[in-house]
Amino acid sequence: MNTIKKITVIGAGTMGNGIAHVFAMKGFDVTLVDISKDALERALDIIAKNLTRMVKKEKITAQDHKNALAAIQTNTSVSKGVEQADLIVEAATENVDLKLNIFKEMDLHAPQHAILASNTSSISITKIAAATKRPAQVIGMHFFNPVPVMQLVEVIRGLETSDTVTNTVMDIAKTIGKTPVEVNDYPGFISNRVLMPMINEAIYSLYEGVAGVQEIDTVMQLGMAHPMGPLHLADFIGLDVCMYIMKVLESGLGNPKYAPCPLLVKMVDAGKLGVKTGEGFYDYSNGVKEKTVSGLFSA
Ligand code: CAA
Repeated sequence: MNTIKKITVIGAGTMGNGIAHVFAMKGFDVTLVDISKDALERALDIIAKNLTRMVKKEKITAQDHKNALAAIQTNTSVSKGVEQADLIVEAATENVDLKLNIFKEMDLHAPQHAILASNTSSISITKIAAATKRPAQVIGMHFFNPVPVMQLVEVIRGLETSDTVTNTVMDIAKTIGKTPVEVNDYPGFISNRVLMPMINEAIYSLYEGVAGVQEIDTVMQLGMAHPMGPLHLADFIGLDVCMYIMKVLESGLGNPKYAPCPLLVKMVDAGKLGVKTGEGFYDYSNGVKEKTVSGLFSA
């Protein structure tokens, strides 16, 4: 079953605009919803810039660019924005109460047949599903940043997610050119169960003085062929997000080995959250990654 034509994306931040971009590029009708008009305008600007980048690289034509932008409508109301949707992908801020409220509203206003997906990186899909009257139609559709570039969609089955819904979402992910991987709903799923402890361990290595920022990142880039070292990646994801996910792993799996490194907690307390605040393990104040931040971080 793949009768999905209309997609609504909730949240116009980095993930939401990337998700809208990839669906619009494949000819779906997309409604992008955010309570902030400014956020919607910014998202459309970013999508246009990223499409232009793809035209320059000759990955798409100028006509594809035009068609993709024309396929995206915006709305500032969740209830109105989901009225016609076949599939809704929620990509709002990673906050449990906020997501539960959005899912309740989506459930009230979306058509009966609509699938409700969440791009959450750590919140239980089973818990989100329980906030609705259609838990069999609730699923995780976890995209990766930058969405137009990253191949993976982690498809997370909640306790009651049906086979039909899972198969439909696996198919749709393939239709938009991604590779879906099905996983069960446990803390961190697979992606963050594996990635975040690696990042946390890199921060511990720095904290214990085993090596400096550049050295740790270079070892992982050149020795393991990671596109970014773990500390650079932590800055890219956001140190607050990394800390939050470690806490979800620690409490959800009941194992203190997942406790966030004290240095990670300290940096979050100091407001040094990575790229988005201009400083994390590296300095981004000039808009590009520069030298490591001095002081704390030498080996
Ligand atoms: N839209 C479209 N194209 C984009 C893009 C965007 N937003 N961002 C980058 N690109 C394209 C570039 O045009 C370029 O294309 P070509 O290969 O055709 O030249 C390509 O992607 C690589 O980009 P750059 O040359 O600018 O830079 P780079 O080679 O340093 O790669 C990167 C940048 C793709 C981000 C790479 O460093 C990378 O893959 N890093 C790891 C990213 C990662 O791990 N993401 C997952 C984070 S975890 C997450 O998202 C979820 C979670 O739950 C925490």
